[in-house]
Order: sequence, then C-alpha cells, then structure tokens
Amino acid sequence: MDNTVPTNETNEVRVELNGPVPQHVAIIMDGNGRWAKSRGLPRSAGHAAGAETFRTIASYCRDIGMKYLTVYAFSTENWRRPQEEVEGIMRLLDTYIHEALAVMEKERIRIEFFGNVSGLSDNLLDLIKQAREMNKKVTDGVQANICVNYGGRDEIRAAAAAFAKDCMEGRRSPEELDEALFSQYMYSKDVPDPELIIRPSGEIRTSNFLLWQSAYSEYYFTDCMWPDFTPFEINRAINDYNKRSRRFGAV
Ligand code: FPP
Repeated sequence: MDNTVPTNETNEVRVELNGPVPQHVAIIMDGNGRWAKSRGLPRSAGHAAGAETFRTIASYCRDIGMKYLTVYAFSTENWRRPQEEVEGIMRLLDTYIHEALAVMEKERIRIEFFGNVSGLSDNLLDLIKQAREMNKKVTDGVQANICVNYGGRDEIRAAAAAFAKDCMEGRRSPEELDEALFSQYMYSKDVPDPELIIRPSGEIRTSNFLLWQSAYSEYYFTDCMWPDFTPFEINRAINDYNKRSRRFGAV
C-alpha cells in the first residue's frame, strides 16, 4: 500500500501510520546546530527550535497512544560545549519544565528525568522536584523521559556503585543479582526498554545513549535535522520498525 501523499507548500510528504505503535520510543535530538548554521542563525536558535519540536512530538506521541518517549537533551559530555551554549540549553529546559507544570495534568504528559540531576542548578532541581510531584496527578497519557546530564556508561557505573553499597550494607547479596534486578538500579527503572531508537541528522552512532536499555532496540536513522522533525517522521520511523522481524537472539 502506498501511504505517502505529497502535501502542502513545504513539500513535506504525508506518511500515515500503518501499524501498531511501540510503547516506548527514544530519540537522540540531533542536528540543532547544523539546522541553525544552514540558516545563518546562532546555535542557540537551533536548540530553541529543537525544544519546540520536542513539544510537538511529545503531544503527538501521546495522541497515537505511545506510553513512553525518551529524549536525549544533554549528555555528560555536553558540558564541554561553550558556556553560553550550555547555559542556553539549561534555560530552555527551565522554561519547558516551568511551562509544563501548568499544563501537564490537562495535557496528560508526565515528565521524568534520567541522568545525574544532582549536577544541575538549584533552580532546575527545584523544577524537577515539582514536576515529579505533579506526575502523581497524571494517571494516563504519555511519560516523557528527558535525559539530562545523562551518559549510558555513567548510568551503569552509578547502578553498579549503588548495588555494591546495598551489598556492603546488607540489603542485597551478589548472588541475587540478575538482569531484572540490575535494571532496577537504572534511571529507567520501571520503564520498559525502548523498542525503537530514532536518530535524526544523518549521524549513525549511539553516543552513549541508553546503553543498557538498547540491547534489543531497533534503530532508525534519518537525515532530517531534529528541528525539522514532524509527526510524519515519527510515522515513517514506526512504519519502518513495523516491517522488521525482532528475534531477540532466537530464530
Ligand atoms: C544535539 O544537537 C542537541 C543537543 C545537545 C541539545 C538538545 C536540547 C534541546 C532540544 C532543548 C532542550 C530540551 C527540551 C526537552 C526542552 P547538536 O547541537 O549537537 O547539533 P549539531 O550536531 O548539528 O551541532
């Protein structure tokens, strides 16, 4: 079935969903800087446009019945960027959470944070605390997991350290450690692994994203820059995912 229909003056191709929606999709929001550069704009404008795209995509994912959307907003390595850029991204997060607090319940969006949030400003920590409190009132819809000061290796390191501490203090013993128990030490505890991980912008690497959780995830790469990403792109990725045969190591 041909489900692609050229649409309006943007030449965007309309792609309709043609199969079930995965319960958890994760996205590396890449390409903001190049998107801005190609328009003669500062990188900060690319991140601002990227934050808008995130708002649109989170609402769309809720509308199609997705349960979890995880996005990579700021990695443990992103601190190496110019201070001005780092501060700009933190301001965008601050604004987003601040605005979200007022509408989360009505819009049925829970917001969680994966990463070493203790490395963030007091202001952001306070907003994160308020969002977590507000989550209790949101009983359906989508959960957006925003990865901030997040690194996949760092997450596994922190989980190992926390498990070792529990062993030393008598709450756990090494013999009982299996994958399910270790998963409970991850930021993502209680969230199922993503079935699909999307990376826009033409880069084909994982960049330290969800290393533990992605063991059996399907990947989808596209040249589209994150600020240009639309619900049709999500549909295209999900349709592609639905064509795959997932065997989880079996035949
Ligand atoms: C990667 O693109 C993007 C980031 C490091 C920042 C992402 C942050 C946002 C979209 C805004 C804040 C998020 C929310 C959820 C409100 P890049 O800058 O590496 O792009 P490039 O590879 O083209 O330079």
